[in-house]
Amino acid sequence: MHLTPQQKEIGKANYNEAVAFTRRNFLVGAAAAVPGLGAAYFGYEKLKGDRVKVGFIGTGDEGSVLLTQHPEDYMEIVAVADLRPTNLKRAKHGDGNDVRVGLINKLGAETAMKIKEYSDHRELLADPEIEAVVIAVPLVAHAPLALEALKAGKHVLTEKLMAHNITECKEMIKVAREQKKLLAVGHQRHYSVLYDNANDLVQRGLLGDIRFIRAQWHRNNSFPGRDSWRKRIPSEDRQALEKSIKEYGFEDVEHLVNWRLYNSTGGGLMAELGSHQLDACSIFLGKVKPLAVQGYGGRNFYGVKGVGSKDKQEDDREIDDQVFVTFEFPGRNYDAKDNPNDVVVVTYSSINTNRAEPYGETLFGSRGTMMVEEEQNVMLWKEESPITGPGGLDQRLYILQGSDGKPVLSASESVSKVQAVSATVSGKVSRGYTEEMEHFCHCIRTNNFESPADGGLRCPGEQGMKDAIMALTSNMAMKLKKRIVFKDEWFDPTNPAVPETDEQMKS
Ligand SMILES: NC(=O)c1ccc[n+]([C@@H]2O[C@H](COP(=O)([O-])OP(=O)(O)OC[C@H]3O[C@@H](n4cnc5c(N)ncnc54)[C@H](O)[C@@H]3O)[C@@H](O)[C@H]2O)c1
Repeated sequence: MHLTPQQKEIGKANYNEAVAFTRRNFLVGAAAAVPGLGAAYFGYEKLKGDRVKVGFIGTGDEGSVLLTQHPEDYMEIVAVADLRPTNLKRAKHGDGNDVRVGLINKLGAETAMKIKEYSDHRELLADPEIEAVVIAVPLVAHAPLALEALKAGKHVLTEKLMAHNITECKEMIKVAREQKKLLAVGHQRHYSVLYDNANDLVQRGLLGDIRFIRAQWHRNNSFPGRDSWRKRIPSEDRQALEKSIKEYGFEDVEHLVNWRLYNSTGGGLMAELGSHQLDACSIFLGKVKPLAVQGYGGRNFYGVKGVGSKDKQEDDREIDDQVFVTFEFPGRNYDAKDNPNDVVVVTYSSINTNRAEPYGETLFGSRGTMMVEEEQNVMLWKEESPITGPGGLDQRLYILQGSDGKPVLSASESVSKVQAVSATVSGKVSRGYTEEMEHFCHCIRTNNFESPADGGLRCPGEQGMKDAIMALTSNMAMKLKKRIVFKDEWFDPTNPAVPETDEQMKS
């Protein structure tokens, strides 16, 4: 959707107005999702007692971000481990190109240099000082490392996608339960105050009847050197690992470094990008499970020989470079027999060749439209209505108290204008990484194994598995070019049924 700068400003002002109206007795500043407000906002207290002693396994791109954003009041980093010498170095010393990363930058040289360094996860797991681990390694290694860590008596926060298949997800949940250890998955939108505020408006019915959500992550990766998934292998890493890499479950160093490009090590665009956004869509729809998925995926840019622009890089990647999927989700009153039309459609696309549109999710409701852009901004516009007045992208709106007590979007300022949110953010909105790690540590210290509704982990293994089912089943639907129906038993961690062996997957 193309928006002028003015329409964007109107959309943001409309959103702030709505949050101020609906949450005026609450932490209004949290509407801006300022970093550091997570504890107060989500209702977990500051940590009492010692900080949790944590080891980080995997200090690549994402591990570095997590290290930089780790909550110092909750988490004491005792050790870091990485197979690649260059990434292990980066964990402490940062990256010449990116001044934000590096533990020395964050903690100062004296503290940072005391943090132990290991050249693989096994040494770190044998360290008795470590209570919990944060795992940020290639997808194929999530389950094996998480299982080893749980069996070694460590709590686990693993990056998303939870695992390479659902059999592994179920095993991880089983072992965590047996070991009485916490298992968290890094879908950080569960800890984004921005998403929580946006979702609050949706759940109050402000957008009316939502029948369609469109989400996309489109990237401008076609020019040489622009593809962030195709990485150069530093000679230091190649030399260090060439002989030993098979021990760690990788065919060769290429599959370790460029793991996102191969089916045996990654899960493609749906696992890396789509899983986050389908996670968000399912939250907006009331944390429901999807009904069915179909789609098209192809190597239509990198896999095509002899056509396209001169800038095109042909390569041997296995994963699709563009994906288009359509999910059917149940509406609030869906019933397969009595109310089969109560369906909400979610479309998702991810492409490599154009980023005219920023990534995000747009909810199209009968009373209004909400757009979440790049985990940073939310915009809101109203539909034109004979009762509440004009609408559209240029319409500044206000909120009325409806006759049923629920808020209603209005084009009229006269009735109950409220102060727009005063706390506009300066700087970036927190994406939720810090809050996710804070709450993980808080749950460890308070021995909190409760459900999310009762204050437990907001993205535990059970939720991570749901997100993995959505992403990996959509991959199967694209591969088989057919509509796949989600089965309830796939979502039950104690039921052995999994999508990868389901009869629908027979071509
Ligand atoms: N939540 C998010 O928004 C987000 C964003 C980016 C990446 N991720 C996830 O984070 C994970 C890592 O992604 P990345 O971009 O950092 O990849 P990366 O390739 O940059 O880093 C992975 C690191 O893991 C190391 N590693 C692999 N096996 C190991 C082992 N046995 N012991 C120690 N180290 C080992 C590798 O050497 C490498 O340095 C992926 O699962 C990815 O999906 C999440």
